[in-house]
Amino acid sequence: MKHLLVLIITNSLVFGELQFPPNFKFGVATSAYQVEGAWNLSGKGENIWDYAVHRTPNVIQDGTNGDIACDTYHHTEGDVQLLKQLGVNFYRISLSWSRILPTGFKNKINPDGIRYYNELLDALTANGIEPMVSLFHWDLPQPLQDLGGWTNPLMADYFLEYVRIAYENFGDRVKYWITFNEPSVLCAGSYEGGLLALAPFLKSRGVGLYLCGHTLLIAHAKAYHLYDKEFRKSQKGKIGISLQGIWYEPSSSSKENVQAANQRLQMEFGWFAHPIFSKKGDYPPIMKERISFMSKQENFSQSRLPEFTPAEISYIRGTSDYFGFNHYTSAYAVPANISGGPSQDSDFGSSLSQDPLWEAGASWWIRSVPWGFGNILKWIKNEYGNPEVIITENGFSDKGGLQDCRRINYHYKYLEALLNAIHNEGCNISGYTAWSFMDNFEWTGGYSKKFGLIRVDFVSPERTRTLKMSAYAYRNIIETKKIDWSFTPSGFEKCVF
Ligand code: GAL
Repeated sequence: MKHLLVLIITNSLVFGELQFPPNFKFGVATSAYQVEGAWNLSGKGENIWDYAVHRTPNVIQDGTNGDIACDTYHHTEGDVQLLKQLGVNFYRISLSWSRILPTGFKNKINPDGIRYYNELLDALTANGIEPMVSLFHWDLPQPLQDLGGWTNPLMADYFLEYVRIAYENFGDRVKYWITFNEPSVLCAGSYEGGLLALAPFLKSRGVGLYLCGHTLLIAHAKAYHLYDKEFRKSQKGKIGISLQGIWYEPSSSSKENVQAANQRLQMEFGWFAHPIFSKKGDYPPIMKERISFMSKQENFSQSRLPEFTPAEISYIRGTSDYFGFNHYTSAYAVPANISGGPSQDSDFGSSLSQDPLWEAGASWWIRSVPWGFGNILKWIKNEYGNPEVIITENGFSDKGGLQDCRRINYHYKYLEALLNAIHNEGCNISGYTAWSFMDNFEWTGGYSKKFGLIRVDFVSPERTRTLKMSAYAYRNIIETKKIDWSFTPSGFEKCVF
């Protein structure tokens, strides 16, 4: 009994004292379409979001759009001061392809696009904030969508032309590049329809998404190799990709349930992680088998999942200097035959549920499951040989309010799971990014789902920004390198967790 007590006390002490490693970096993130606004100013071209929201505003829950959004385009200096106030080490942004190349092609470079990002990058570096830059966060130039978007294999070369311009103009200040944000979410959202639909809001279920993914993987590898061969030596940065992963927990330990959860994880997360980060490369074997089997059943002449040549497999494998990981939630998976295929859902062969006791966010899909975060971090370590992981997104949505204790609770718990993964599981995690720096245009959720550490008043023409309680809590973590559950900034009430 006495021994047990000592053990409990020591354990809780160790847990309570867990600190972030000295070189651990903290940041916040946004993406171009979600915050910039200035959709048609100074030579910017039309992208697939501009096109969709203007023609079919009803695809957005509150009928809004990103025409003005947070208007970060006009707030460079003020926003950099806010980042300084937060005390972050880095700021993750994305470049708007159409602001730089209005036609999508390199035939016409928009000087104002180059100017805007130069000024932003200069302001960040002058203030000691490292820029982390995504080359593509879902806002494809419309003229390229007219040519088939990511289902067109030529898109990989058009992407490369754009990427070269970005390296040439901005690479001296960017030490962290991200090629693509969440390709699995993008390709499924673009072609499967349903609740998670994204521009260009097409339906080519069970087919379009895999063509899209195939082109993206090749485009990603091309962008990596270009950097590696021509820019790395002089610019000395790192280049990677941000992959989204939900943790799928088997709903019991039965063989069927374990298999269903694993299959889903491999077919969603492994879809992009396996070709890049596994020893063997290529799509996960279980994904190839399953889609080939389903395609045969559905009378297709070949698998709906395209094949890589051996040369392509080795060209893609290992093309990431770190594992950018976006994570929000977890779910239970059980085996299920989903009718109405072909579709990604019927390919998955499982259905999902979440425990109603898990704290729910304002977005229908989000619930706080910190242990799921811990599990998937361990899974990445074991599956892909313990790569350097940077959490490039993690966050919680609510309906608004400055006293955002539920967001603080979420971040604290997820950060505790992360600390545990570092200190007790040996996971190699070097950074964490809170989504989001400020409330913004949450895709089809419009402005009603708030993820920001900073409130934006979308009614005021100035788009006034106000720090929420979570902004102060985050700053305190960055300053002290640990989590203090009792921290209460002045002007706020103590949270009851
Ligand atoms: C991610 C996406 C972000 C943001 C976030 C919250 O999937 O990369 O742009 O919208 O989800 O839903």
